[in-house]
Amino acid sequence: MSGSSTGGSLTVSLEGGRTATLPLQDGTIGPQVADIRKLHDQLGVFTYDPGYGNTASCLSRITYIDGDKGVLLYRGYPIEQLAEKSTFLEVAYLLLNGELPNAEQKQDFEHGVLHHNMVHEQIRSFYNGFRRDAHPMAVICSVVGAMSAFYSDSLDITNPEHRRIAAFRLIAKLPTIAAWAYKYSVGEPFMYPRNDLGYAENFLHMMYSVPPEAYRINPVLARAFDRILILHADHEQNASTSTVRLAGSTGVNPFVCVSAGIASLWGPAHGGANEAVLKMLTQIGSVANIKDFIAKVKDKNSGVRLMGFGHRVYKNYDPRAKIMQKTCYEVLQELGIKDDPLLDLAMELEKIALEDDYFVSRKLYPNVDFYSGIILKAMGFPTSMFTVLFAMARTVGWFAQWKEQVEDPAQRIGRPRQLYIGAPRRDYVPLDQRG
Ligand code: CMC
Repeated sequence: MSGSSTGGSLTVSLEGGRTATLPLQDGTIGPQVADIRKLHDQLGVFTYDPGYGNTASCLSRITYIDGDKGVLLYRGYPIEQLAEKSTFLEVAYLLLNGELPNAEQKQDFEHGVLHHNMVHEQIRSFYNGFRRDAHPMAVICSVVGAMSAFYSDSLDITNPEHRRIAAFRLIAKLPTIAAWAYKYSVGEPFMYPRNDLGYAENFLHMMYSVPPEAYRINPVLARAFDRILILHADHEQNASTSTVRLAGSTGVNPFVCVSAGIASLWGPAHGGANEAVLKMLTQIGSVANIKDFIAKVKDKNSGVRLMGFGHRVYKNYDPRAKIMQKTCYEVLQELGIKDDPLLDLAMELEKIALEDDYFVSRKLYPNVDFYSGIILKAMGFPTSMFTVLFAMARTVGWFAQWKEQVEDPAQRIGRPRQLYIGAPRRDYVPLDQRG
């Protein structure tokens, strides 16, 4: 894969007059990037960009974000249209293959996913090794990594058929693995997947059915859940996706790459934020306490952040948050929840924060996680499962990004540089001569 160039360049000069001319590359949309690959050769300097806020780590055709305008596109399609008109499995096909499927491709893909949803029976025994109170993210991180020990017939990353089957396996089995992590934590029997159900319905069934009684699937809730999956399916080169790509750049199999992505997603600054939002709302307790809480958030020494607010890229609004807010009202209405104290609290918090200069001047707006926790709680998911659901959805994006990287002949092992500020070279001091 290579970018295109309209011939622009960036000239960098060092004191003393030495200069380097760096070509500018054009994307389909979005800002140009300066190609710095020859910078060190020409000037002997590296670039310093902690947090990679100004660095394009790869060329990609999958997802586009314009953070200033609040735009999110999957393969060119606006997230708003996909959330309203598409389904999670159709979006999964789109992310993996670049185009929306025709009727036959859609049927084949859905069949492929649904028929890989059972996990190797031996994987069941894995769960027994965990404490019942283990965080389900810890459990799924381990079990997904362990898939590489079970599916040796889809580990050859150079074989397109192995990659195709590995995609089916990851996308299909994640709901089973996730639901079993929940069942294990509450001491209920594991429920097997059912192929007569759609992707979202099947997951709800494995979460909430018990052998004596099947869970009656509410189509409004299933649709809302499917939409949540669509909203989380991919998000360009975020921390967990970059983790997956970095791990994948070494040539390792996709199961462990996704496991690495799950580990990275767990952090409260990333996917763990939806769980943290709910904890925060519970901790604030009532509208009367918001003022004190906001004061704490603004006090840099407190270490308290307004969870569900702010984003590295979105500096106007997060388009996913808008859809999530609408979905939140639909779900609460369907469940007959008229006055949800947490929702009231969230709305008041949002209102105050959006008017407060601290947040306005820093362009801190609600992100996707601000509302998702309220929806998921209303649907009966325990908070510890929130990030697991995010991981389930993002597995598609991770795989699509991993596949794009593996299929790119220009891909190399990821290996960032550093600015070393430690001790200069010195000689070893024997123990009896140290101060
Ligand atoms: N509450 C209070 N202050 C904040 C917040 C917040 N949530 N987010 C950023 N700031 C302040 C920060 O203190 C800094 O202020 P100053 O310039 O005075 O030092 C300024 O805003 C810029 O912050 P930053 O840390 O440089 O911003 P970032 O782009 O590195 O961080 C973020 C992005 C998402 C990690 C951060 O906004 C945050 O911690 N948010 C809360 C956690 C959260 O909701 N995460 C979910 C992100 S969306 C889902 C996902 O992608 O996983």
